Amino acid sequence: MIALIVARAINGVIGKDNALPWHLSADLKYFKAMTLGCPVVMGRRTWESLGKALPKRLNIVVSRGPRPADLSEVVLWVSSLQIALDLANQEGLASGVDKVFVIGGAQLFAEAMPMADLFYLTVINQPIEGDTYLDLDLSGWSLMTATEPTHDEASGLPYWFEVWRHPKHHANGDLKGMS
Ligand SMILES: NC(=O)c1ccc[n+]([C@@H]2O[C@H](COP(=O)([O-])OP(=O)(O)OC[C@H]3O[C@@H](n4cnc5c(N)ncnc54)[C@H](OP(=O)(O)O)[C@@H]3O)[C@@H](O)[C@H]2O)c1
Repeated sequence: MIALIVARAINGVIGKDNALPWHLSADLKYFKAMTLGCPVVMGRRTWESLGKALPKRLNIVVSRGPRPADLSEVVLWVSSLQIALDLANQEGLASGVDKVFVIGGAQLFAEAMPMADLFYLTVINQPIEGDTYLDLDLSGWSLMTATEPTHDEASGLPYWFEVWRHPKHHANGDLKGMS
């Protein structure tokens, strides 16, 4: 299965200055819990914003450019989303994992959304200033779960977690969309 995971403010903002425009520790923990053990696919800019590989996950970076010569981190560097999904599929078959996460940013989300089965959305119920936006059209998607709205103690930000499923994209739990 192809899953997307994103935290998004209600005005569509997901990033600012190639970083997250908020600090939401519950969301970082949620992201870790959901993605641990699964391959993660990200755009080059998101890779640069992370700065290091996410541990205990196969990290795959998508870029049209060459792998930086000085890159010592254990990441796969590939030239298209499809290649990334194919490699994630191979890894999944080898390790018994049935899910790959596309973890951003906006460019990768836009490309992956039409083939995704699951969408893990953290709703930040407040407009936030930023420079990277994710447009969302969830027609055809079904809301599976939503947690109760709550507030982050440190920042006061209101948020909740939603999981959406796309029945037409969803195909019996296999890594559909991967060749
Ligand atoms: N809120 C969240 O959940 C969340 C999650 C992740 C990221 N973010 C934020 O989002 C922002 C970054 O997002 P972004 O949209 O600017 O960048 P991005 O999607 O992370 O990366 C874009 C880069 O990926 C490569 N790429 C994209 N599509 C490609 C394709 N079809 N084939 C080959 N390479 C492709 C290109 O790299 P090259 O230029 O090297 O060719 C492109 O410049 C940051 O602010 C980050 O903090 C937020």
